[in-house]
Amino acid sequence: MQNKANKNILKVTPYVGGKPIEEVKREFGLKSVIKLASNENPYPPSPKVLKAIAVAAKSVNRYPDGGCFELRREVARRLKVEPAQLVFGCGSDEVIVLLLRAFIEEGDEVVLAKPSFLVYSIASSSGGAKLVEVPLKGLRYDLPAMKKAVTGRTKVVFIGNPDNPSGQYPTKGEVAEFLNGFPQDVLVFFDEAYFEFTRGASDYTDTLALLKSRKNVIVARTFSKIFGLAGLRVGYAVASPEVADLMNRAREPFNVTSLGQSAALAALKDSGYYRKILKVLNREREVVCQGLKKAGIEFSKGSTNFIQVRVPRNAREVAFELLKKGVIVRDMSAWGLDSYIRVTIGTPAENKRFLKALKEVL
Ligand SMILES: Cc1ncc(COP(=O)(O)O)c(C=O)c1O
Repeated sequence: MQNKANKNILKVTPYVGGKPIEEVKREFGLKSVIKLASNENPYPPSPKVLKAIAVAAKSVNRYPDGGCFELRREVARRLKVEPAQLVFGCGSDEVIVLLLRAFIEEGDEVVLAKPSFLVYSIASSSGGAKLVEVPLKGLRYDLPAMKKAVTGRTKVVFIGNPDNPSGQYPTKGEVAEFLNGFPQDVLVFFDEAYFEFTRGASDYTDTLALLKSRKNVIVARTFSKIFGLAGLRVGYAVASPEVADLMNRAREPFNVTSLGQSAALAALKDSGYYRKILKVLNREREVVCQGLKKAGIEFSKGSTNFIQVRVPRNAREVAFELLKKGVIVRDMSAWGLDSYIRVTIGTPAENKRFLKALKEVL
């Protein structure tokens, strides 16, 4: 059937995610396995969120509200934007797909960093776009080179703010310089899945403020990370009303589940719970970094809930050795970084177990 397939789909390398816990248990005959591979929140949703999910569960015989009315109103109020500026998706992954579906025609170009979040390239390639990949400098975006890579055919530039796997964001100065004289009809997509982890950083760009004067800016956020709702898949984009309208036209009518909408709304209203979790995760990130430092292991901390650890051997081998000990991490060879593993910050007990296992493996 290959010759019948869409030729753009044939170009796509399938996304390989972190292995599920149950699979690793079965494969290695382990009783206890921890997963620090998918940048998830290790803590369960707040009791209020669980209650909201239970209440919403009683009505799952009905289709969800396709317009996400309540959630839209609350997000708009909190971000001080118009409800019509929001596009909700089945995770922010889907928001990326909607953007490309709305704007990309065969042969259009997208500019992205290499390596960067894999969904940018998967969704762009399957949409028929030509990828223009600009290598990172160290683990940081080379924004001047990305700006130079923009041509008359460029429709979108992807900026992970901060990105995955690098964990880094371009500074305020770098973003300002990038946008200075930048064409107003090329979309700049700031992916802020890890936005909450950058809080307090003075060199972080207020992208929502940019949106006030630039119709070509899009900001994406998610409930999958600090709000711990990765399994319910809710993300959104903030854009100009015109761009949001175009993206919304590309959406399936009921793309965000009713459970997801209720949970996300309850999570927003329980901000105290999530502030505490953020504090714990930020503190634990320091604990892991200190542990690595003490063991003489190189790492890059970044501004997210994950760390890149440089290993003196092939990352695939190291990740496999850790797997055998019941610790799932990502080897970064999928991104071409053969001497790095990526580890998500877990609970204190999980982080301790990771550090112990890594020291044993190395
Ligand atoms: C940079 C980045 N953007 C977007 C996402 C997608 O998040 P979701 O689709 O769960 O909202 C992720 C998830 O890992 C990510 O790392």
